[in-house]
Amino acid sequence: MNSESSRMMPQRCAQGSISEIQTLEQWRAQWMRAWRDPDGFWLDQTRKRLHWRSAPTLGLEGDFTSVREQPLRWFADGRLNVTESCLDQHLDRRGDKVAIIWESDEPGQGRSLTYRQLHQEVEQTAAALRSASVRPGDRVIIYMGMVPEAAIAMLACARIGAVHSVVFGGFSAEALRDRVLDCRAKVILTQDEGMRGGRTIALKATVDEALKDGQHPVEQVWVYQRTDAAVSMTAGRDLTWSQALEAGLSTTGEAEEMSAEAPLFILYTSGSTGRPKGLVHTSGGYLTWAAYTHAEVFDLREDDVYACVADVGWITGHSYIVYGPLANGATTLMFESTPLYPDAGRYWDLVARHRVTIFYTAPTAIRALAAQGDDFVLDHDRSSLRVLGTVGEPINPEAWIWYADVVGQSQCAVVDTWWQTETGGICITPVAPATPTKAGSATLPNPGIVPELLSEDGRVLVGEAEGRLCLSQPWPGVARTVWGDHQRYIDTYFSAFAGRYFTGDGCRRDADGYHWITGRVDDVLNVSGHRIGTAEIEAVLVTVDGVAEAGVVGYPHAIKGQGVYAYVVPSSASDEATLMDSINAACRTQIGAHARVDHLQLVLGLPKTRSGKVMRRILRKIACGQSEDLGDISTLADASVVASIIEGAPR
Ligand code: WT7
Repeated sequence: MNSESSRMMPQRCAQGSISEIQTLEQWRAQWMRAWRDPDGFWLDQTRKRLHWRSAPTLGLEGDFTSVREQPLRWFADGRLNVTESCLDQHLDRRGDKVAIIWESDEPGQGRSLTYRQLHQEVEQTAAALRSASVRPGDRVIIYMGMVPEAAIAMLACARIGAVHSVVFGGFSAEALRDRVLDCRAKVILTQDEGMRGGRTIALKATVDEALKDGQHPVEQVWVYQRTDAAVSMTAGRDLTWSQALEAGLSTTGEAEEMSAEAPLFILYTSGSTGRPKGLVHTSGGYLTWAAYTHAEVFDLREDDVYACVADVGWITGHSYIVYGPLANGATTLMFESTPLYPDAGRYWDLVARHRVTIFYTAPTAIRALAAQGDDFVLDHDRSSLRVLGTVGEPINPEAWIWYADVVGQSQCAVVDTWWQTETGGICITPVAPATPTKAGSATLPNPGIVPELLSEDGRVLVGEAEGRLCLSQPWPGVARTVWGDHQRYIDTYFSAFAGRYFTGDGCRRDADGYHWITGRVDDVLNVSGHRIGTAEIEAVLVTVDGVAEAGVVGYPHAIKGQGVYAYVVPSSASDEATLMDSINAACRTQIGAHARVDHLQLVLGLPKTRSGKVMRRILRKIACGQSEDLGDISTLADASVVASIIEGAPR
């Protein structure tokens, strides 16, 4: 181990530990066992952590080769309802423990729910869904902001065996409609308006817009009153939350017994081609993985106050605000606001007021806050903090060090957690009390994860190397399929390298075996931790008046990590600023407010191969200021466009 560049936190005694791993030796022992005997290891873990109606005797069935014909299964003979692990199993010992702390958009406002209260609210909502004829296997879309009712809605679906699909509240009506149609949702749960950073978000109006043509399978829309804004209600379709709950009074919210492999949720995410795909996560394996990784990575203790400031619209919110923490009986915080509202001290004000011990956020937020200076941090008491986590994108060493030393006062473990929507939970990460860290490295794999680096042409790279990150052994939380399109699942993840799951990320492994994620190697962008396909943005751009052709790539952005760089061939003489406005208006209405073009360059033509394929590799190099190093351009149909593009690029 290279000691100059690695950090080891002082050992503290682990009282009331819900985690098992405290030392690197213990991590290694668990990793080795999960590698050699995955069935034995995970059957032990799941029986210990979850409540099963009928405990499984089977571990993993299938592998990454046979997955083409037969989806993977974990614990297939087990029967459970995931909400009994998240709620009922805690009632005896933790009934009065706070399950959810809700911090509203306005500092200091909000409420908290104990496990007993949460259990009761979930049962009521589950009963209401039942009385709305939602049956096991039916799909329910949740289009809400960060209010406890969003978590209650997720759990209520799970309680009756319905499959939820949470759609991030920033998505547009068109994006919402695509998802409604793709999963054939029977019910949409929404709220009148969302609140974020002092502004309202018109959620119900967006649902109305998404459903306006009437060609959809939605039977009911429930509206939770967050702001009491007057919203239009469609008779026979829309109900207020309280009307819906009232309708459920005549039935029960008791848990439906499900198979371990019953789908728990669908979550849409962007890829390098086509429209977003609905990844399917199932019940027993997903919850085992979420619970295990949440407890071990963050060194969870009984009296922790755990705050993940993500949104439930993303996988981070599913696994590390709702399912993992609740399965572990933790106190989990739901944060409705932004890191900058009312000022850049908001996170640390939150930490001080709630005595937060574990804090989990994204590198983009850390960079944005570091840029505002240290005083916003120093003004608040952070002595409660023990573990600091990051997720969503590579963290640059400067941001890591600021987080560790300024926010954490060099007293906290810092865990840079690499994972994806598809992996269900954290894969490569330090284990807080055990792993010596290096600023900017996601370090070592969790037990169950077997990373491999491959060259572009499929050779396995050993030792120090940089290559394409693959995972070669199935773990319990891996997504099982793409909703309605198993072939797309195979093509996306299992066709690049035989018998392995390909992540889409590049990665460097150093002499200590530590992993440094270098970012996506496919046509997926990561803008402020939001995953967007270049193809998705290009598809929007070509709908804009005045755009003939478009090529989109990412470029380094100091705060966002990556910015969106669009090369556009205009169809008529147009003014650049006007075109930029119409482009971003189109991105907002067709995708959502988080998708926007940061830099526009008008060009005469795009570099294409003779078969007409846009060579994004060249566009990417130019956008990143590496136009001296374009590599082989001899396959281009017309190499002269390149010179004119370089001419027009910023220097
Ligand atoms: C992509 C997955 C995981 C939940 C949030 C994002 C990037 C994620 C890290 C990290 C470097 C990271 C990868 C990955 N990513 N975490 N710690 N270091 N890159 O989930 O939207 O499915 O995006 O985010 O590129 O493939 P997602």
